[in-house]
Amino acid sequence: MKGIILAGGAGSRLYPLTQVASKQLQPVYDKPMVYYPLTVLIASGIHEFCLISSPQDLPRFQRLLGDGSQWGISIEYREQARPEGVAQAFLIAASFIGQDLVTLILGDNIFFGGDAFPRAFAEFKSGATIFAYHVNDPERYGVVEFDAEGRAVSLEEKPAHPRSNYAVPGVYLYDNDVVAIAGSLQSSPRGEFEITDVNKEYLRRGTLRVQRLSRGTAWLDAGTSSSLHEASAYVQTIEKRQGVKLGCPEEAALHRGFLSLGDFEKLVTAMPQCEYRDYLAEVAIEVKRVGIKSA
Ligand code: DAU
Repeated sequence: MKGIILAGGAGSRLYPLTQVASKQLQPVYDKPMVYYPLTVLIASGIHEFCLISSPQDLPRFQRLLGDGSQWGISIEYREQARPEGVAQAFLIAASFIGQDLVTLILGDNIFFGGDAFPRAFAEFKSGATIFAYHVNDPERYGVVEFDAEGRAVSLEEKPAHPRSNYAVPGVYLYDNDVVAIAGSLQSSPRGEFEITDVNKEYLRRGTLRVQRLSRGTAWLDAGTSSSLHEASAYVQTIEKRQGVKLGCPEEAALHRGFLSLGDFEKLVTAMPQCEYRDYLAEVAIEVKRVGIKSA
């Protein structure tokens, strides 16, 4: 399965921060935001990536992430000339997707905990799998409604009167039909090609699976100054308390077997002296002691 990270957008809500770097390059505590969604996909077994961003920001992502070979993965880059909607990602990345299955993750969605994603990725074969997460403010998101048997019956994008409290987070798994479906969409009243319209088409075909994320999974959105600050505080709290770091692509690549321990150690040695390096050096010691455990 191929992986797309969508990391463009106007960035207007984080102005003036976004004058120097896009939202997904802003720090979430001790790492750039894009490390978190990238790590989620690496930990789920994805190793071929395409990152999509604006013409101004794409070179900055390239400088940060390179071609991915340092982590045993590959990263291609594609421009989105204007932010015309999340679903446009499948058209921009059509040549990257080829005939494969594909997952899309939004570059400002941050997840921690639980094993829902690796399991869903391992089981996925066809149709679409999306997730549902109970929130306080569903009107800000795509919203899914379930019937008494727990089957998804409707999907709406930012409804004024949500039919449930279940928001659809920004991780989506699709079969190859998604490219044709994205190509057939009409732009929405807000002028975007909506990911919710893609999901509605899978729902209409009867091939949409909606998996509820349990309380064990945290989903944070870092789209405004205050939610960005909260996400940083959350990461700091967990990292301090548990002595583990969240969102380290190197660690996930090591645990997934994309990076050998030898290459991991070389990577760590080449880093400047910093907390991040100290942490990864500890990870290497632990792996030598007890072997690879799941991340
Ligand atoms: O966060 C989950 C929500 O993401 C879903 O529940 C909604 O169904 C989905 O439409 C989307 O909602 P938003 O309207 O909040 O998405 P936003 O415009 O903030 O864009 C999400 C990310 O994708 C953000 O990092 C910017 C990037 N993006 C967005 C658009 C529209 C692009 O790179 N290009 C785009 O054209």
